[in-house]
Amino acid sequence: MPGRIPQAFIDELLTRVDIVDVIDARVPLKKAGREYKACCPFHNEKTPSFTVSQVKQFYHCFGCGAHGTAISFLMEYEHMEFPEAVEDLAHLAGLEVPREAGSDTTPQTTTQPLYDLLEAAARFYRQQLRTHPEASRAVDYLKARGLTGEVSAHFGIGFAPPGWDNLTKALGKDKTALASLVETGLVIERNDGSGVYDRFRDRIQFPIHDRRGRTVGFGGRVLGDDTPKYLNSPESSVFHKGRELYGLFEARKAVRKLERILVVEGYMDVLALAQFDINYAVATLGTATTPDHLEHLYRTVPEVVFCFDGDRAGRAAAWRALENALPVLRDGREARFLFLPEGEDPDTQVRKIGKQALEQRIAEAVPLSDFLFDHLASQLDTSSIDGRARLVDQARPLLSRLPDSIFRQMMIERLAEIAHTDPVRLSKRLEPAHESRPPADTLPSAPARQGKSPVREAIALLLYQPALAGAIDELPFQAQDSVPGVALLTELLELLQHRPGLNTGAILEHWRGKEEARHLNKLAHWKPLAEDLDLAAELRGLLEQIAQQMTERRISQLLENEHQRPLDDEEKHELKKLLMARRAGS
Ligand code: UTP
Ligand code: MN
Repeated sequence: MPGRIPQAFIDELLTRVDIVDVIDARVPLKKAGREYKACCPFHNEKTPSFTVSQVKQFYHCFGCGAHGTAISFLMEYEHMEFPEAVEDLAHLAGLEVPREAGSDTTPQTTTQPLYDLLEAAARFYRQQLRTHPEASRAVDYLKARGLTGEVSAHFGIGFAPPGWDNLTKALGKDKTALASLVETGLVIERNDGSGVYDRFRDRIQFPIHDRRGRTVGFGGRVLGDDTPKYLNSPESSVFHKGRELYGLFEARKAVRKLERILVVEGYMDVLALAQFDINYAVATLGTATTPDHLEHLYRTVPEVVFCFDGDRAGRAAAWRALENALPVLRDGREARFLFLPEGEDPDTQVRKIGKQALEQRIAEAVPLSDFLFDHLASQLDTSSIDGRARLVDQARPLLSRLPDSIFRQMMIERLAEIAHTDPVRLSKRLEPAHESRPPADTLPSAPARQGKSPVREAIALLLYQPALAGAIDELPFQAQDSVPGVALLTELLELLQHRPGLNTGAILEHWRGKEEARHLNKLAHWKPLAEDLDLAAELRGLLEQIAQQMTERRISQLLENEHQRPLDDEEKHELKKLLMARRAGS
């Protein structure tokens, strides 16, 4: 278990990387005054309300309220977990992520034992491929299929030896471990309750990794011609076939900046392509490509090329992929289709024609628009009015699934052209494009409703210009809980005096996951009414106001106490002092 990432490293990291680069690489930004803008990637919109501040190292969407730091952005946009996002940014900045000694203090989830067990199983299978007496059969098989040790190692290929209980014996040490093994599907309970047996026996093992590189399941191939040819882990709480893609983790590891991804059908296709240095292929796990898969892919690359057999089954699978791709095809995302000659799969094809020729075909793959219209037109007679009317009928529901975009508009125009009809009228007959509205409760409260208090304003001011903390030598009050937010304000000031030079984003990371983060994030996009105000003086004034507020509160509290019982000497003294201070202050 890696230790915690030290906060000081996060500070350092967020001063080194630039949120503008991080976001711009995924969502192209346009400069607008001192900030950068784009259409929000977290909700559908036509006019940009997504704003990135370079000074603050913070993004905020006025439309849906999404906000955060470079780390938050990766977590939201790339679906990364916190440590993964930090690793990613560190990589960008050329830094190594240090870990605090001791084990992770974050609470363990109930799925952690499953991940650990799956990892142990992957290790076991790899080890068997090296050491089991029968492993030479597996090694020979891999060699016969043209795979080098290097590629096998890159994909973590292993060997499940023949026998009913190899894995059970190796990993099922106690009842809990055995129950977990059953939960992952690596071990199966006999129907009659007389015990368990290994699912994978005498098979080549392909570990399936999730995006974070955790092993979540396995595919296993027989060495000969037995059936079933492939066995896959069943779905479990950590393995969802509609979400995971075989080879995606490996592709991201192999290629620094992925530009395009090739979607193929089989494990062996992914490996064979990698063997020929085409390191950007992924396979679905015996299922159709789901919209979830595609959303996932388009967050990694702008271009997805589907590769299918040229036969009927391949065409049908391609059409299903097309239908599922439509809803996620926002502008800037491209889908194309490569049909292989009948009887070929990417594995056989690349061996036959080589990397260069195959990549040439990939580059010339059919655009989705052509595939869609050609496929529909091939079943109709578009020279007749009837045929064209039916074409419109069949294309309409498909085009309706496209998000509102220039691409959708162009598809409508193309359909109009083929059907010899008017694009404007056609457009009206389409279902309106779905524009997702953010739920009302995520909208930031309007500034007017947000209620101004000197504490809030002081915090906002510090988040706006952290260096202002240097202007405060001493607090005119003591940190107490009598005024809401004062504890947070004091903590913030202390942090900034300790670590001058932190930007807003880095500050916010100090409160990640804490109750106060919500308030801080809301205040982080505050701006002063004018740029030329003396903000240091403003801040001092606010602190004074807070001190007065606290005095008032304490006075009323003491007076109230006096109502109930006589005050003791200390309290009397305090009250006198406070009343004098109030007189001096006003
Ligand atoms: P293929 O039979 O096309 O696989 O099935 P392949 O990769 O070309 O196999 P080789 O070249 O003979 O080794 C494609 C995918 O369908 C799933 C697997 O995910 C496989 O990679 N499949 C196939 C199964 O799940 N079970 C099977 O019995 C067969
Ligand atoms: Mn094959």
